[in-house]
Amino acid sequence: MKVNLEQVNKTFSKGKDDSLHVLNDIDLKIEAGEFVSLLGPSGCGKTTILNLIAGLDHPTSGEVIVNGEKVKKPGTDRVVVFQQGGLFPWMNVMDNVTYGLLLKKMSKKEAEEKAMEGLRMVHLGNFTQAFPHELSGGMKQRVAIARSLVMDPDVLLMDEPFAALDEQTRIILHQELQEIWEQTGKTIVFITHNIREALTLSERVLLMSTRPGEIKRSFTVQAARPRDPSDSVLVNLEKRVMGELEEEMEKVLKEEFGDDYRFKTSAVRDRNRDHMGDHI
Ligand SMILES: Nc1ncnc2c1ncn2[C@@H]1O[C@H](COP(=O)(O)OP(=O)(O)O)[C@@H](O)[C@H]1O
Ligand SMILES: [Mg+2]
Repeated sequence: MKVNLEQVNKTFSKGKDDSLHVLNDIDLKIEAGEFVSLLGPSGCGKTTILNLIAGLDHPTSGEVIVNGEKVKKPGTDRVVVFQQGGLFPWMNVMDNVTYGLLLKKMSKKEAEEKAMEGLRMVHLGNFTQAFPHELSGGMKQRVAIARSLVMDPDVLLMDEPFAALDEQTRIILHQELQEIWEQTGKTIVFITHNIREALTLSERVLLMSTRPGEIKRSFTVQAARPRDPSDSVLVNLEKRVMGELEEEMEKVLKEEFGDDYRFKTSAVRDRNRDHMGDHI
């Protein structure tokens, strides 16, 4: 077992008497080399789970175990890729990618060789001297992925890394990430609120319910790679996941708009099918 959450609860205190129960009894087992997505509406606790695995935060109760050891703090065995890659703007691509390796006291020559390997994997071998402001959003995220890969982590934690990218760029990055996963065999925990993204990438999609967040359902995705979103297996699975996600979204909207809120007939589903919906 690579990543194991046992009966994890997380409560944030908001002032003296108020608290927010964000995660409720999360049990999660991720095998070595698995590609798992956590899918759920905004605010359900996805990033909180990732932070717990990364060691950036601690559970209120329960345990997070990676490679058989209780997680106490961040470590280079678990690297996070964020939505905004977090490159150093004053460093060129090569220096951004070698930064973590040099901190680990690797020689400059070896670090640069490793960085080249990582950059080639994301097809940016010709951009070593470019600065972040000279790169597109997709290229920046690819540098961020290369920078994480060269650290050779056991687990790659990705928090909506492609959410800010346009659709075409995202499709290309989905292909690259699938190739990287197949080549490296890394364990990947990928967070998204995008159903199609989760199904295109992962072996297993874990659907979370709204607060307090729980793992509501697990879907195994058995479609050939590289995945084609029009594959009938994926299309059928997408409908099932969408139905369940709709229920959760309705709960969120009722919380925001009050109990008299009525979910219009399949607003989510219709939007995804590119037509105006039956309720008009
Ligand atoms: N450090 C914190 N202090 C207080 N509340 C927090 C903190 N971090 C997250 N939350 C709250 O916990 C809930 C879950 O947040 P998060 O895990 O970021 O959700 P998601 O990533 O699924 O959108 C949200 O209501 C958020 O406001
Ligand atoms: Mg989040």
